[in-house]
Amino acid sequence: MPTAARRSSPVVAIDGPSGAGKSSVSRGVAKALGYRYLDTGAMYRAVTWWMLRHDVDIHDAAQVAAHAALPQIETGTNPANPTITVDGLDVSGPIRGRDVTAAVSPVAAVPAVRARLVEIQRQAIGNGDIVVEGRDIGSVVVPDAELKVYLTAAPEARAARRTAELSDPAIAADEVSLHTTLHTTKESLLHRDSIDSSRSTSPLTRAEGAVEVDSTDMSLNEVVEHVVALFRSRVSAGATS
Ligand code: C5P
Repeated sequence: MPTAARRSSPVVAIDGPSGAGKSSVSRGVAKALGYRYLDTGAMYRAVTWWMLRHDVDIHDAAQVAAHAALPQIETGTNPANPTITVDGLDVSGPIRGRDVTAAVSPVAAVPAVRARLVEIQRQAIGNGDIVVEGRDIGSVVVPDAELKVYLTAAPEARAARRTAELSDPAIAADEVSLHTTLHTTKESLLHRDSIDSSRSTSPLTRAEGAVEVDSTDMSLNEVVEHVVALFRSRVSAGATS
């Protein structure tokens, strides 16, 4: 895989497990810094959506690899309005469905899929001024990112946040359904984390030089402020001194 191109402006890399709040934090940080934003998870989801739509057996790595070059993925980088299309179709809704969520980790483990998406990601990153979120941004996509954050949270907190995002009011009002949903969501997050962390190509890992931020007991605003403060002390201060 080619190495990252030289840039003139900073990149903030935010990696971490599912449900740690990467998307909300990354968008908040991008808005605060006036930066662009790239959601690489959405790209893996978009490829997965395409594979399911074209009846590719997602558990057959050779079949997934043979189709890896076909989906045409385009992603917008405006943090106020992130967009993602496959073959010109807006898939921002469908890629969040349960079927895609259940299938994405095996697809993302296929090296041919990763090589293709990393290339598109590096093109989108271009000269920098961007916050990029994913699993391998600080370790593989932009190993020389000016700020690398590894965002974590306890599994219970991650499941609670995901459930709140997904839940309809009927589930939230019923204690037994809420408990079942929380349990299923937690199991699904942990299952995805285990595939993402154990794959041989670009596993989820805390990159060298990454600052670990545990968001379990922090509000979204607190995490955004914390990351922006890290950026100001490590990157903007460094640029002017
Ligand atoms: O971030 P999100 O939960 O949308 O990511 C969906 C999946 O995409 C992850 O579980 C992981 O399998 C894959 N992914 C990845 N590398 C990235 C971003 C996401 O493997 N940089």
